[in-house]
Amino acid sequence: MRWVTKAFLENLWHRITSRKRRRTDELNLGWRVTDGEIERRPLLVSQVRRKEHLAILGKTGTGKSSLLRSICAQEITAGHGFVFFDLHGDATPFILRRVALEERRAGSDLSKRLIVIDPADPDWSVGINVLEALESNSAFVEYHII
Ligand SMILES: Nc1ncnc2c1ncn2[C@@H]1O[C@H](COP(=O)(O)OP(=O)(O)OP(=O)(O)O)[C@@H](O)[C@H]1O
Ligand SMILES: [Mg+2]
Repeated sequence: MRWVTKAFLENLWHRITSRKRRRTDELNLGWRVTDGEIERRPLLVSQVRRKEHLAILGKTGTGKSSLLRSICAQEITAGHGFVFFDLHGDATPFILRRVALEERRAGSDLSKRLIVIDPADPDWSVGINVLEALESNSAFVEYHII
């Protein structure tokens, strides 16, 4: 029952935010804060700025991981590709759940666009050449969790 409620609320939130998202197609980082005052205006990052560097810094427990999850959820809804290095291993279930939600919402199969690499998996190991060059002008977005 608890799970059903959680899934229902997630689905509802997903529908509300994806509707807003389609309108702007910008990344929403939350409310703006000016001189310590929370404004009722969102801090939006354009698609051009999104491909530049963005650092999320904060003390323990201040919401860094939550913000990254929110960003990932928005990217999934918008159909954008990204790489997520889940060093703590706790973001993967969330991301997979969001992909499943998006599949259900859009009625499409996203399995061809999703690659999960688990270096600790004894049965499946992969090699990645990080120096392998792609097109020189290709924009590449990646998220690191610290
Ligand atoms: N905007 C928010 N409003 C209220 N609570 C929040 C918000 N963002 C995060 N939290 C809550 O704060 C707690 C810590 O969040 P989170 O784990 O994202 O922080 P963190 O900076 O990644 O912590 P750590 O440094 O330990 O990894 C969680 O319980 C989370 O649900
Ligand atoms: Mg964290």
